[in-house]
Amino acid sequence: MKHILSTIFLSIVVGLAAATNNLHTAGRSVQTCGDPDDTLPWYRANAPSQFEYVYSTDPAWISAIIQANGFILQTILGTVFLTQEESTVPCYFLSSSSLADNFITINATERDAAIAGGQYVLRTDFQTYIYPTEICGSIPVYRLYNSAKTSNFFTTSESERLSVISGSGYADLGIAGYVLSVGGAC
Ligand SMILES: *[C@@H]1O[C@H](CO)[C@@H](O)[C@H](O)[C@H]1NC(C)=O
Repeated sequence: MKHILSTIFLSIVVGLAAATNNLHTAGRSVQTCGDPDDTLPWYRANAPSQFEYVYSTDPAWISAIIQANGFILQTILGTVFLTQEESTVPCYFLSSSSLADNFITINATERDAAIAGGQYVLRTDFQTYIYPTEICGSIPVYRLYNSAKTSNFFTTSESERLSVISGSGYADLGIAGYVLSVGGAC
């Protein structure tokens, strides 16, 4: 009898420990974030005559297209990871020289469709990692598209989002992903 009781007691303790452990694991996975110190500013530059926008974390590359191709540095969308960290996903960069258009997507199906369509190429050298949901103090990257100009446009500014919709013929395509704000999050 004593032996049975102690066995029952032991199994309750083991069960509780497992349950507590599960709670901790669940709690941590919700909270798990990349290290903001590992992020870099994500610059947006624009060639106004072509309605072309590019996004890069490489200041030297941005400087080069400003000098050589007449691009203008417009803003920093936020900060992004260059390697995958906790809770982030790859953000693919698709580029079309014939359309003078570039877009980013975390959707691998959309990436593959764009490549299969023949007009866009995947630029892995421009790939970043961002959050797929609004976690870890991240902010939305809005996606807009002007079909007349075949121009994709991304912004983290709500006022800019509204102004290109009302003034520049862009349609709202929703949210592409989530980045950290330049001021630093968390
Ligand atoms: C991913 O892209 C495909 C093709 O554009 C689309 O049909 C699908 O709804 C997208 N998935 C998500 C989760 O947005």
